[in-house]
Amino acid sequence: MEPPFDAVHIWKSSLIIADDEYQAFWRILDLAERTRAVQFRARLQQRRFVACRAQLRCLLARYLRMSPTAIQFTRGTHGKPRLSDTEPDQGLVFNVSDSGDHALYALAYNRMLGVDLQIWRGLNNLDGLVERCFAAPEKAYWQSVPDSERRALFFSFWTLKEAFVKAIGIGIPFGLSRCMVRPGENPRLLAIPMCCGAANDWMLKNLELGTGLSGALAVKPRTPRIVFRELASACLSGR
Ligand SMILES: CC(C)(COP(=O)(O)OP(=O)(O)OC[C@H]1O[C@@H](n2cnc3c(N)ncnc32)[C@H](O)[C@@H]1OP(=O)(O)O)[C@@H](O)C(=O)NCCC(=O)NCCS
Repeated sequence: MEPPFDAVHIWKSSLIIADDEYQAFWRILDLAERTRAVQFRARLQQRRFVACRAQLRCLLARYLRMSPTAIQFTRGTHGKPRLSDTEPDQGLVFNVSDSGDHALYALAYNRMLGVDLQIWRGLNNLDGLVERCFAAPEKAYWQSVPDSERRALFFSFWTLKEAFVKAIGIGIPFGLSRCMVRPGENPRLLAIPMCCGAANDWMLKNLELGTGLSGALAVKPRTPRIVFRELASACLSGR
């Protein structure tokens, strides 16, 4: 596959896999991944984890033209995975998100990249989360919309903000309320702490994933082409 030099490639996949695929996926994981997999008590969680890791390996293998088993990972200070022997945000970069039976993989070259996917699950304390994680203007806007629209808007805000904190590699500990976003058709990063550079240098995108799902991408520098694809279950065959 051609590497995405001027684009971000987004792959959406299902983590529901058949037994034979599970066996094949298991075989391409490394020891650390298998060790983590067996720590999941619930079988469903374990299968999803195995599928997600194996699909990531298969995808990276297609871009790098190497075997999925030969890929090695390292992690940044806050846990963001990257390919071994690469500097953060250099070379082929990727970010992953999963929620329920769904996964998203974003790949690009030489970019800060974060992706987030959330199923619109029922959350007990939406007001509390908004209070803690939204900046004051975001909170005011969220409170101004009708109750019936609040859940969708919450997940839109959430995925945009989480994609950003994943792109900078810190994740939730950065503090979601420290980045202010404008959701909607053309989402934007409105304000970020000075240490993160200029908000305008970043591009935010909503990813259309279907009813009951929200997804977002954050990328710097801005990238003209976003290519969205569904990953066929037979990704091992290279199709
Ligand atoms: C990364 C984080 C945002 C994940 O949120 P989530 O909604 O539960 O999960 P997602 O499915 O969207 O993303 C998970 C994936 O993001 C990637 N990831 C992990 N840490 C990351 C980071 N700091 N920045 C960007 N991406 C990260 C990994 O690929 C991870 O998959 P894995 O757990 O199989 O390795 C959240 O766990 C976090 O902020 N972690 C950072 C550090 C932290 O709190 N560590 C705790 C132990 S010190």
